Amino acid sequence: MSLSKPSLPLIAEVNPKSPISEAYKVLRTNVDFSNFEEDIQTVMITSSRMSEGKSTTTANLAVTYAQTGKRVLLIDADMRKPTQHKIFGLSNRYGLTSALSNNSELREVVMDTGIDHLSLLPSGPVPPHPSEMLASKRMELLLERARGEYDIVLIDTPPMMAVTDAQIMAAKCDGVILVIDAGKVKKDMARKVKAKLQHANARMLGVVLNNVNRSGSDSYAYYSYYGS
Ligand SMILES: Nc1ncnc2c1ncn2[C@@H]1O[C@H](COP(=O)(O)OP(=O)(O)OP(=O)(O)O)[C@@H](O)[C@H]1O
Ligand SMILES: [Mg+2]
Repeated sequence: MSLSKPSLPLIAEVNPKSPISEAYKVLRTNVDFSNFEEDIQTVMITSSRMSEGKSTTTANLAVTYAQTGKRVLLIDADMRKPTQHKIFGLSNRYGLTSALSNNSELREVVMDTGIDHLSLLPSGPVPPHPSEMLASKRMELLLERARGEYDIVLIDTPPMMAVTDAQIMAAKCDGVILVIDAGKVKKDMARKVKAKLQHANARMLGVVLNNVNRSGSDSYAYYSYYGS
């Protein structure tokens, strides 16, 4: 099978033996190996700017974890531009924002993706104050519940330079993966983001360099991982 458009963006599901899927497995292994001192169970994925590949990385990493038999929960915490429900072809009528406003149980809002061991908590209806919702005590409680029910929780977020949401979440998660579009983001921008993450006391698990050699219409040409 070629790496052409129809197999995207869930390439780890459609073509698990492709080189890109292998790269997601390397990312998974690196996250697991950063786990030697304390448990890394909640991992947030972010980037400096928009469209660097956060959601694609989160979805494929989630699939890659589920393939090992671990119970995986993917939370779409990008309340401003939710996409995970689209990637998995599910509804966004109820989700994280509904759970937080009603203090619901996870099982009331979590959806089956059709992929074994992988559940999705979509973002839910766009709320008036996303940052406040993410900063709330209820969000902490929800993450606590998720820790009890899943082996790993992966969290998609908005870009760091746009809003404070990702910084808020970083402080609540065990680790952070930073996705950098190699063609778009300059070093000083990446440094600024790193400083923001440090300020939030985030534990950097590593950096994913996305689109290293993107040329014209070539999709997913390269996908590299570098430890922090
Ligand atoms: N390595 C890649 N090669 C080609 N296309 C890619 C790659 N990674 C992501 N894309 C595509 O780029 C677009 C943006 O990716 P994605 O939605 O994952 O980024 P994002 O960082 O979540 O964006 P946003 O800031 O809007 O949430 C999507 O159409 C996705 O399919
Ligand atoms: Mg996104």
